[in-house]
Amino acid sequence: QFSVCIAGGGSTFTPGIVMMLLDNLERFPIKKLTLYDNDEERQSTLGSAIKIMMKEQAPDIEFVYTINPEEAFTDIDFCMAHIRVGKYEMRELDEKLPLKHGVFGQETCGPGGIAYGMRSITGMLEIIDYMEKYSPNAWMLNYSNPAAIVAEACRVLRPTSKVLNICDMPVGTLRRMSQIIGKEPKDLEVSYFGLNHFGWWTSVKDKEGHEYLDEIREYVSKNGYLTQIEVDTQHTDPSWQDTHKKAKDIYAIDPRFLPNTYLKYYFFPDYVYDKMDPNYTRANEVMDGREKKVFSQALKIVEQKTAKGCGFEIDAHASFIVDLARAIAFNTHERMLLIVENNGAIANFPDDAMVEVPCIVGVDGPEPIAQGKIPNFEQALMFQQVTVEKLVVEAYIENSYQKLWQALTLSKTVPSAKVAKELLDDMIEANKGYWPEL
Ligand code: G6P
Ligand code: MN
Repeated sequence: QFSVCIAGGGSTFTPGIVMMLLDNLERFPIKKLTLYDNDEERQSTLGSAIKIMMKEQAPDIEFVYTINPEEAFTDIDFCMAHIRVGKYEMRELDEKLPLKHGVFGQETCGPGGIAYGMRSITGMLEIIDYMEKYSPNAWMLNYSNPAAIVAEACRVLRPTSKVLNICDMPVGTLRRMSQIIGKEPKDLEVSYFGLNHFGWWTSVKDKEGHEYLDEIREYVSKNGYLTQIEVDTQHTDPSWQDTHKKAKDIYAIDPRFLPNTYLKYYFFPDYVYDKMDPNYTRANEVMDGREKKVFSQALKIVEQKTAKGCGFEIDAHASFIVDLARAIAFNTHERMLLIVENNGAIANFPDDAMVEVPCIVGVDGPEPIAQGKIPNFEQALMFQQVTVEKLVVEAYIENSYQKLWQALTLSKTVPSAKVAKELLDDMIEANKGYWPEL
């Protein structure tokens, strides 16, 4: 039985993840669950509602919510981390500020992702250090964004820490792929290479070795990754519909592979820019949608003193976190896509790049599976992007204006060094108090 702390306990994803954990107790037994956040108001609102739910559904699990790091991180086996430094107010700025310079805004790609990366590193180091101080043997399963920059910062600044970086996008896309071909995700095995939010599937096989890539490609070339079930259930917001639809255009650029939907930001930045509403971005969608919904559910639970019929929903697709925890705890050798140091996994790519590739995960962590050589086109794109990510981390460490300017200039999403500088000066202003001084 494990003791788990969720860092970012005040996130509106947390209730769904807690429900998912309760749904998976047979696979991953929990004796204590702690929610930790540094925002007292958010944590106590969600924490008090989840406490009522836990009493009803899992009275044997000790449940705590706190803003005290020592209490949160002492004697834990796993920290599941999904922090958002600057919260949605800053996400909104990440998305809106670039628009003033003719560049699209997004939380993990382009200038928005760079700004968010500069904010996140400090918050990540803080929770890693708490975990190592109070529970030196624990593992952190991190899915905080922007995952690529966060992972590079961990590699450089906390090289021996037990942090595993994972993104749910490949898991989510595999689920859609499995629906397209009428299979279950667990029956499929994928090959994939790339960076986080920047990669390609090269194989989707069943356990008997039958390859489904052509069949899925055929479908994606017409519909993108949008499935009927997907439309009916989750992510029905216009921005997500478009993202999954756009996969068909990304696919057309290199029809050998299947693209991660995030590549639309790099291949069609002008399209994304034109489609954006400067007054209403994804952050607004989330603040008006998930944020309002989950907080009002929480308040209702507290008021009615019961979680029955109050609508927290299981975030079933987050069960990849349990798969990852199980892989380490029970040495399951599960195959999963993780963000790891390349070290030859992609043969013609730098060893010290943080790449996203399939790994076998066991008690000592991930062992990347070799993906061989990749074509020049993808290699060059990845090298450009990974260098942006490295420059951001160097800029953070060295307090270097110059390196962050270089990072923005190098980003495929920014048209010129001039625009990069204007953007940077605005971003510095907007992120005062969150970024190190440059
Ligand atoms: C995907 C990505 C995550 C990202 C999320 C944003 O799941 O993999 O990295 O955080 O989308 O979702 P949201 O609903 O907040 O826009
Ligand atoms: Mn992600």
